[in-house]
Amino acid sequence: MLNILILNGPNLNLLGTRQPEVYGTTTLDDIEVMCTKKAAGLGVTVTCRQSNHEGELIDWIHAARGVFDGIIINAGAYTHTSIAIMDAISSVEIPTLELHLSDIHAREEFRHVSYIGKVAFDAIMGHGAAGYPMAIERMVQRLAS
Ligand code: DQA
Repeated sequence: MLNILILNGPNLNLLGTRQPEVYGTTTLDDIEVMCTKKAAGLGVTVTCRQSNHEGELIDWIHAARGVFDGIIINAGAYTHTSIAIMDAISSVEIPTLELHLSDIHAREEFRHVSYIGKVAFDAIMGHGAAGYPMAIERMVQRLAS
């Protein structure tokens, strides 16, 4: 059975109350339930983790080797700054999909740069919480091909 790791970076633990006009009102717990249901429907398993710490995200990416078949990552603001997360993804050679609730290209210019995008096979953004199940579907499609 395919095993997918879903990583959420800084401030995403505040979803539901954080800038709802940008990120919606769905909480991260709600999103995890959506992901688990979607995964069950597709016959895969997902593990969801969130951290506000760059190093912890990197440790989880390293530990994913040999355990997870794919990584879906919403790296939050680290998307735009973290060469270290980009390098971690390249190092483990696990197919990785970039995910965002908002469309980073339709926002401030500093969000247009994505280090994750340089190493991910695809990106899903601008669909709010609905992007998470979409990302699982896209990952399963990628891993099956
Ligand atoms: C985000 C977009 C980032 O620019 C921002 O820093 C976030 C959330 C998104 O899901 O839309 O924290 O990754």
